[in-house]
Amino acid sequence: MKDFYISEAARFENQVITSSFVVVSKQAKPKKSGDLYLALTLADRTGHMEAKMWDNVADHINCFAQDDFIKVRGLVNKFNGRFQITLHKVRSLQDSEVVFDDYLPRTTKDVAALWATLAGFVAGMSDPHLKALLRAFMDDPQIEQAYKNAPAAKSLHHAFIGGLLEHVVSLFQLCDLASRNYPGTIDRDLLLTGAFLHDIGKIHELAFARSFTYSTRGQLLGHMIIELEMLKDKLAQLPGFPERYKTLIEHMIISHHGKYEFGSPKMPMFPEALMLHYLDDLDSKMDSMRAHFQREPDSEWTSYNASLERPLLNTRKYLENGLAAPVNPPKEEPEEV
Ligand SMILES: [Fe+2]
Ligand SMILES: [Fe+2]
Repeated sequence: MKDFYISEAARFENQVITSSFVVVSKQAKPKKSGDLYLALTLADRTGHMEAKMWDNVADHINCFAQDDFIKVRGLVNKFNGRFQITLHKVRSLQDSEVVFDDYLPRTTKDVAALWATLAGFVAGMSDPHLKALLRAFMDDPQIEQAYKNAPAAKSLHHAFIGGLLEHVVSLFQLCDLASRNYPGTIDRDLLLTGAFLHDIGKIHELAFARSFTYSTRGQLLGHMIIELEMLKDKLAQLPGFPERYKTLIEHMIISHHGKYEFGSPKMPMFPEALMLHYLDDLDSKMDSMRAHFQREPDSEWTSYNASLERPLLNTRKYLENGLAAPVNPPKEEPEEV
């Protein structure tokens, strides 16, 4: 167990702490004097925090790299409304010195129960081809293991171990509700197939053994291309799988981001693809809001949310505070750091 977690920063303001973190990013930047300083993003299972090292940079610059675990001593302080650490000392840690669970955020839900919920939905599907396809993925032990652990995104939403599974279970429940509202328009089995597969490529797109980053393959190809390949591999084990289903599933995969500028080469062109896009977007944005309120539990207005491109109002806090002193909404621009 660590002595200090990032979520406790407020309690340690203006105190010197000694603790360990994983290095999410590391940059050496020039000071006005021309000397270098180190700008780091550090993480543990409770969050991310910026850290700066102004002095003795030459002694430390090569002693650790991104994704390393480090032990630091430094002062917790606030800059531009955010907590950061001014580092005095840094040393790298061996893997044997760390408990991995201290560094990666993890779903608070029961992963086995989430997996069972997915399996229940699949068992309830009526189309034998689509059901067999999803079973082929679920019965693959490597895929099961990765699907239960992968985050759904690097930072935007469900960015924690088990996040992909939590996201897809939530999406299945949304698909179930929404498809009932449009009987005759939505093929529920096809929609669920798209939901199961739409982000499955994240198991290869993201590296999540230490901090969450893109794998080289993920960075170069993105999850949609990886998914087409995974689909092709599985279909090779399912002779007689209808070609038309294959085409529809491929379209749902490549169109689920909804717009060209979000990486989809085609826009959703049939009802199940359109519904998948909107429900996926809804689920990711709701989680982005939930996570932001969790990170800043005491404020009515959050800081700027980069993925939603706006600050957020915590309605529960707002209503709790009733008619107490009015609060001015913050500016629409991100803070300059
Ligand atoms: Fe996606
Ligand atoms: Fe998604």
